[in-house]
Amino acid sequence: MTSSQLSWLSGSPLEAEHRKLMRGRYAEIEWQRSTAAALTSEQRERLALTWRRRLSSEYIAISTFSVLSIDLCAARAPADILSMVHRAAIDEIRHAEYCCRMAELYGGEPVAPEAKISNLPDDRSAPRVEQALSNALLVSAVAETYATVVLGAVRDRTSDPVARAVLNNIYADEVQHARIGWAYLAHCLNAPGAGPGVRAAAERMIPRAVQGCANVVEAPRATSGAIDDALIAHGMMSPEDERALFVKSVHEVLAPGFEALGLAVGDIRSKFDDTWATTAAA
Ligand SMILES: [Fe+2]
Ligand SMILES: [Fe+2]
Repeated sequence: MTSSQLSWLSGSPLEAEHRKLMRGRYAEIEWQRSTAAALTSEQRERLALTWRRRLSSEYIAISTFSVLSIDLCAARAPADILSMVHRAAIDEIRHAEYCCRMAELYGGEPVAPEAKISNLPDDRSAPRVEQALSNALLVSAVAETYATVVLGAVRDRTSDPVARAVLNNIYADEVQHARIGWAYLAHCLNAPGAGPGVRAAAERMIPRAVQGCANVVEAPRATSGAIDDALIAHGMMSPEDERALFVKSVHEVLAPGFEALGLAVGDIRSKFDDTWATTAAA
C-alpha cells in the first residue's frame, strides 16, 4: 500500500517502517486483480458498507489486544503470551488497513476508521490472574476461535481473487490470535498453586463470552436484502449461515475444547442449538 492508495496514514517517513511491519511474511495483495468493476452499483454499495463494518470491528480489536496486554502484564503472564498479544494488536492494524482498502475499492471513496476503543470488562477487585484469564478467554479463546470458523467458511466461498487473498491473510492471523487464549488458559489451570478461583473465573466467563459472541451474530447487518452469489463471491455471508456456523462452533469447537481442559461450560449447548439458529434467523 502507498500513501496515495490509503488515506489512513501519517504522510511521514514512518510510513516506510510501517509498511515493513504490515507486509511481514504475508502474501502481497494484488489489488488490481479485483473484479469489483463487474458488479452493479447496488452490490458495490452493499460490499462497501460490509467492509466498513468489518473495519470498525478490526479497528476496535487493536485496542482490545492493547488492553488485554495490560491485564496480562499485571498478572505477569509468560513472555510468549505477551509477545503474541502484542503481535495480535499489530495484526489487527493490518486487518483494519485491508478493510479500508476493500471499502475504498467497492465504495470508490477514501475510507478511514472511526475513533473507537475496546471496553473489555475491568474488575479491579478480582485477582490479577483471574482478570487476565477472563479477558483472554473472552477475547481470544471464544471470540477469535469463532472468528476463525466464520472467516474460514467465508474465505472458502469467496472467488474474487482480491477478497479471497485478503480473507486468507486475515484468517491466518486469527488462527494465531485464537491460540493465545487457549494457551493462557491451559497455563493458568496447570500453574503450580493454581487455586479454585482460577477455574471458577474461567467457568464464569465461558457462558458470558459465548453470549457476547452470539450478540454480535444476532446484531443487524450493515445492509439488508438477500445475499446473492455475486456478494458471496466477494466475501459476504448470509445471517442464516452465520448463525448455523455459530451453533457448530459452540458444539464442535468451544464446548469440547473447554471440557477437554476439565471446565464446566454451563448451558451453552442447550442455549445455542439448532432451534436458536433457526428462531433467531426468523
Ligand atoms: Fe482481525
Ligand atoms: Fe484477531
